Amino acid sequence: MPGRPIPRKEPRVSLPDFDMVLFGGTGDLARRKLLPALFDAHRTGCLHPSSRILATGSHPHTTEQYKAMLEESVRPGLEHAPPEAWTSFMDRIGYVQADARQPAHFDALAEQVLARKPEVVVCYLATAPHIFVPICEQLGRTGLNAPNVRVVLEKPLGHDLDSSEAINNAVSRYFGEEQIYRIDHYLGKESVQNLMAIRFANALFEPLWRREWVQDVQITIAEELGVETRGDFYDRTGALRDMVQNHLVQLLCMVAMEPPASLSEDAIRDEKIKILKALKPILPQDVAEKTVRGQYRAGAVGGKPVVSYVDEQGIAADSTTETFVAIKAEIANWRWEGVPFYLRTGKRMQSRVAEIVVHFRDVPHAIFPRPLTLSPQNRLVIRLQPEESIRLYFLVKQPGDTVELTPTSLDLDFANSFKMRRAGAYERLLLDVIRGKLGLFVRRDEQVQAWRWVEPILDTWDQSTVPPKPYTAGTWGPAASSALMSRDGALWHEEA
Ligand code: BG6
Repeated sequence: MPGRPIPRKEPRVSLPDFDMVLFGGTGDLARRKLLPALFDAHRTGCLHPSSRILATGSHPHTTEQYKAMLEESVRPGLEHAPPEAWTSFMDRIGYVQADARQPAHFDALAEQVLARKPEVVVCYLATAPHIFVPICEQLGRTGLNAPNVRVVLEKPLGHDLDSSEAINNAVSRYFGEEQIYRIDHYLGKESVQNLMAIRFANALFEPLWRREWVQDVQITIAEELGVETRGDFYDRTGALRDMVQNHLVQLLCMVAMEPPASLSEDAIRDEKIKILKALKPILPQDVAEKTVRGQYRAGAVGGKPVVSYVDEQGIAADSTTETFVAIKAEIANWRWEGVPFYLRTGKRMQSRVAEIVVHFRDVPHAIFPRPLTLSPQNRLVIRLQPEESIRLYFLVKQPGDTVELTPTSLDLDFANSFKMRRAGAYERLLLDVIRGKLGLFVRRDEQVQAWRWVEPILDTWDQSTVPPKPYTAGTWGPAASSALMSRDGALWHEEA
């Protein structure tokens, strides 16, 4: 039942004049996500006319060479890229060589930025994390850390709590916490924002959003992709660090947090940190029961054959890195005591889907006859991708002279209901950095707490002689993932 389409004019946002210095300007993230996001913001008239994007890298390209590279690697992937928009976007772009070991490069960079005096300077560190600190040192030395400078740190920020804190300590020698934007692009997704609206702009759900009425919560981020060209990085990282420590834990906080007193950045982040602190530790002796780690074997995804994880480029033949994780998380507070939060993520799964499913409890006393096959619960399914939708499942009477129940759903499909363009996650977050809005970025204490929660799991897996459970590419993960649920009498949503 699609909602009534509500045509709206595209919003025009007036942003301050900025220079964005893109460290890692030739890298994968810049080409696949950041430059397309900035292009979209440019194309829709959101950017200040004088604002510039200064890409940097360790190679001595000229601006013209860099633009030629973008012409080949970025432009073909852009939707709606009229030639005049691309040409005017290119006018904003410059390339500056900036090798963190070469102070002279940073002197030249600072001179370029400081000479123009933009209102805001954004330094986006889309590089390997081991050069975050040398870059920040150079930024501090050259005065590119004044109060109007904001630094964006891409994940992964470190490999564990110690290394992440070492980076945070070093960065905080040059930048105040209010200048540091730790990005988790899942927080920029439209449906995550909508989750807040559903919960806190409507009176309907909040009274039910608690242990008395919620049986369990499931959060899934499944990908069809494998490790692509990032084998070397991924094999040192694994799904727990790549997806759970950040994206899944952040989604869990958004579902579970108490209503914040306002939309101010610290009001929201103060509520998220309470959830992170209330997450029950998963002790080494509980890891086998409460977690599943898996690794894909050869199979087929979307009808195409794909190789095993260990046969991907850059992966050791005896690798025990996990490409799938399922966890039963629990929150020790009044609202959620006893309600399991099942989290799962994996590469090379059956389909690309990210969703949050809130399962409500059954009615206390059943007066209707009900076939056993009928899923008893009301479910709210908030889908983040591939399409954004919200679906509320409930039971109704099937038409006819007998009283028989049948499940149905109320569907809100955002693409049909709202015809306006929606900014992608990176675009929204980049614009927030330029506006100086920190609410959708991860505060240091949140990151510390998320590491504290995942570290015992990582350590236990590291010391274990039991390898990850194999699963065939193109499935929903190892059988143990279903077993984790069925021990509690639950089912993953797609299997229900
Ligand atoms: C990134 C991970 O943070 O998120 C990738 O490093 C993953 O491994 C990606 O593929 C998934 O993001 P999205 O938005 O495509 O679901």
